[in-house]
Amino acid sequence: MTFSQYQEPIIHTFIPTSQDKMDLIERLSKQFSSSSVGFQKGEGELACCQIDHPRAKACIYLNGAHLTNWQPQDEQPVLWMSDNSAFETGKPIRGGIPICWPWFGPHPAREDLPQHGFARLMTWNLRSVIETEEITHLILGFNSKECDPRWTKDEFDVRYALSVGKELRVELSVTNTGNQPMQDIGCALHTYFSISSINSIQIRGLEGVSFLDKLTGKTSSENSPLSISQETDRVYYPVTETVEMIDEGFQRKISVAGQGSKSTVVWNPWVEKSKRMADFPDAGFQTMVCIETANALEDTRTISPSETHTVSQTITVS
Ligand code: BG6
Repeated sequence: MTFSQYQEPIIHTFIPTSQDKMDLIERLSKQFSSSSVGFQKGEGELACCQIDHPRAKACIYLNGAHLTNWQPQDEQPVLWMSDNSAFETGKPIRGGIPICWPWFGPHPAREDLPQHGFARLMTWNLRSVIETEEITHLILGFNSKECDPRWTKDEFDVRYALSVGKELRVELSVTNTGNQPMQDIGCALHTYFSISSINSIQIRGLEGVSFLDKLTGKTSSENSPLSISQETDRVYYPVTETVEMIDEGFQRKISVAGQGSKSTVVWNPWVEKSKRMADFPDAGFQTMVCIETANALEDTRTISPSETHTVSQTITVS
């Protein structure tokens, strides 16, 4: 069964409330555990869901709905994680797949609001877990009533569906539940890939696509595949192809296919910026690269009342 054929039965919903007396892990386990899915206190005592399915292993934290590991059973880990990451309620996790929403980068108008939005700072609710022979399918979500009112006046429901198997698909869907349009909505599925060495990779599929170099503010394009040999922070637009990362050292190709997105961000902090980030090891830039499926810059969206906008990223390894 493919993800698109999959019909979502409503079998579980769970919204923790302050009245909950039962320990969160116990409740999650009671409601959602299955042969491949278990719950535990992970790093920093934060609740996480561990998947160990015949097709793939994975780990997802409720903090940020953050996937910190995905590993098809015959592969080494696909996602890079920082050894120095914070694991604290309300702080972003460094590595894996952070969800940047409802803006990408700094807020366009307000300096007091957090970089990359607040979705990665929220503790999400687990809404359902379903297991098949091929995949484990998880849905997490939150809505505007659960958010700090200083962050937004929009009314919405956010849903994040993960389909974890031999391939990984993550899908962020936002429904406008209010009666005003939601404007300038940005996002990034900010995936950190684990690589053998930054000198051994090539990124294909962005040749000829114009990009904004955030470090110089200049727009340009290149005709050859991208190799990284310095700090790189680019927003490509419009992206229509699947992006491929060829890793000579690991002898693998990772394909990143986006939907609902026309912008792709490529980021590597290189030497000096790595040193400036407290949650990032100094040498970390050598073994990671971010390829982010985004709605950034001119690709931000307006979501009309009752409308749903979905951005997804499908990752395959060969
Ligand atoms: C990238 C941005 O998406 O994320 C960079 O283009 C930014 O400018 C990077 O530095 C990391 O952001 P943060 O907030 O997780 O440190």
